[in-house]
Amino acid sequence: MSETKLSLLYAQEKIASEVSRLADEINRDYAGREILVVGILKGSFLFIADIVRQLSVPVTIDFMRLASYGTETQSSGIVELRKDIELPVQGKDLLIIEDIVDSGLTLDTLYAKLMQKNPRSLKICTLIEKTCQKEGSIKPDYVGISMESGFIVGYGLDYNEQYRQLPDIYLLG
Ligand code: IMP
Ligand code: MG
Repeated sequence: MSETKLSLLYAQEKIASEVSRLADEINRDYAGREILVVGILKGSFLFIADIVRQLSVPVTIDFMRLASYGTETQSSGIVELRKDIELPVQGKDLLIIEDIVDSGLTLDTLYAKLMQKNPRSLKICTLIEKTCQKEGSIKPDYVGISMESGFIVGYGLDYNEQYRQLPDIYLLG
């Protein structure tokens, strides 16, 4: 295995302040309503745990899991549904919680699958958005951090299933 080098990119304090800002925006926008949070496994597990604890509106929580194939650091655009949502969606205000939107192809697939189930509304919150190489057509409504390019790990994000447990986010290089 070749040696991998990690350089600190976003420290946990920066992540925490973005999570709080996003939670404030969501609380304001959804005042008086109830949210069905759709957490996208596995990469967003820490982000989901942190953000839902700062939501003051009523929430229910469910999970989906998708896998996109490709090389280790590049998505192929072929997205497979590994686990579907289990709670009823029709008439609900859905909020997708994603770790990272890269090409946007995963998000397009996810959006289409959930829209088929007739929610009342469907919005997307992502911790990270990469701005280069956008191929998808659906834009996230809430974005924590925008970065241009690069492959990152930590705070739930992995490289070959490693590094998810790190509290900070690192650039892999
Ligand atoms: P997409 O290219 O937007 O479809 O992203 C596909 C998936 O690749 C994301 O949901 C992540 O799970 C993963 N991914 C994309 N960029 C990164 C990264 O920089 N680090 C770790 N995982 C990533
Ligand atoms: Mg993901």
